[in-house]
Amino acid sequence: MRLDKYLADMGVATRSELKKAIRKGAAEVNGAVAKDPGMQVSEADEVTWFGKKVGYASVVYYMLNKPAGVISATEDRHHRTVLDLVFEYEKSCGSISSLKRKDLFPVGRLDIDTEGLLLITNDGALAHQLLSPKHHVDKTYFVRLDKAATEEDVQLFAKGFRVDDELTAMPAKLELLPDQEARITIHEGKFHQIKRMFHAVGKEVLYLKRLSMGPLVLDEALDLGKCRPLTEAEVAALKKQGE
Ligand code: URA
Repeated sequence: MRLDKYLADMGVATRSELKKAIRKGAAEVNGAVAKDPGMQVSEADEVTWFGKKVGYASVVYYMLNKPAGVISATEDRHHRTVLDLVFEYEKSCGSISSLKRKDLFPVGRLDIDTEGLLLITNDGALAHQLLSPKHHVDKTYFVRLDKAATEEDVQLFAKGFRVDDELTAMPAKLELLPDQEARITIHEGKFHQIKRMFHAVGKEVLYLKRLSMGPLVLDEALDLGKCRPLTEAEVAALKKQGE
């Protein structure tokens, strides 16, 4: 592809700004200044922009350990978004690979006060597969409640039940843990689903954290607020799950 398209795809600047800057010598290809915006480059070439490496990746996948207080949206006037955290990570790597890319989005949403695993990508087809009700991708959460859940709750959740006027929950697996804590696996992802399910049985969720989504498991080494690219094996497992 053309050098100006390569750089525009990675969001470093608009195409017209790019042409001017390339002619002035802002870009290098494999260590040599490249002043022709139409120069042919491929993903295998090493391209830099004002001295910073630009990795070309048409699709990218990040695992984020979402902290509370950050919203699962691409932009917001009042709160930091999960994409701000991805951009911070990329800056810290000295890379501008998908920095400022307009096409990244979170796959599904976690409430503002929910922590844990969130997949961020620009792979719309994979996101569609993972979110489609047809595929019933399991999502497991750790939950802390104001009162301990009971064996009756386990049975009720396992059968599925009418939660409120708008939600009938499909069967879910509830595992009781000590200290008013539990693990719950659901196949759907309705608005405030887990909070509503517990509320319906007289318990309030005090803390919620997503541990896994299908085969993708939150990396214990990832601190809150941090993200990392998925490994090839993780991407392959997710794609297989979505088939
Ligand atoms: N269920 C909820 O209630 N909140 C979340 O963030 C995710 C699932």
